Amino acid sequence: MRRRIIAGNWKMNKGVDASAALAADIAARVSEFANGVDLVLCPTFLALNKVAEAVRGSGIGVGAQDCYYEGEGAFTGEVNPVLIKDAGASYCIIGHSERRALLNETDRAVNLKAKALLNAGLTPIICVGETLEEKQAEDTLGVVSGQVLRALAGISADDAAKCVIAYEPVWAIGTGLNATAEAAQTVCAAIRAAIRASHGDDTAGKVRIQYGGSVKGDNIGSLMAEPDIDGALVGGASLKPDDFARIAAASAK
Ligand code: PGA
Repeated sequence: MRRRIIAGNWKMNKGVDASAALAADIAARVSEFANGVDLVLCPTFLALNKVAEAVRGSGIGVGAQDCYYEGEGAFTGEVNPVLIKDAGASYCIIGHSERRALLNETDRAVNLKAKALLNAGLTPIICVGETLEEKQAEDTLGVVSGQVLRALAGISADDAAKCVIAYEPVWAIGTGLNATAEAAQTVCAAIRAAIRASHGDDTAGKVRIQYGGSVKGDNIGSLMAEPDIDGALVGGASLKPDDFARIAAASAK
């Protein structure tokens, strides 16, 4: 009953024209099955507008990779959800491990960003995941559930149900290593159980949980076969139209 969602995180790659061209190329390749899965492209802020234009009418959504949680005002360099929406996007990635590690993004900031996005009518894609050290210390479930609960703190059951959670083990991002489908399922089931305990059955049943970390055309099938994995957040492979289309095709129902 949950519609799958595949999002491409282009990170700090591709200029404005190259982003628009990539989006148009992807849109042409996925047109046959785009109605069987939610597809989202997340370019740099600078290209949101052009990418939104390039995919108009294709059913593909557009997302930003970060936002600030304040309304309009004196916040030099920041971009808030209202501005992101105005540029044509309807999703926003928050709490990505690269931002947590390099730019000090905290659980509190992720929580404030999630609330600001929901208030503006955008869908937060909330990233969580354990580091290699945390995995080795067998802390994965505690770390990840804690991140999810802190991200959703103070958010109503109805709003929490609209969020997408992206479970991305930090050690699997951009490394070519990926969690086995079985291991990813265990963590995604624990995330759903944590949401059930905090926000109730109905919300837990509706929240979509993605796996991310070295997702490719040849591992997406086994991930999608797991009951609690509802899609993927794709980095490197989302910059290759052929690979992204393969991942999208394998996820369409
Ligand atoms: P990757 O990145 O697919 O290149 O591992 C995933 C992500 O950072 O979202």
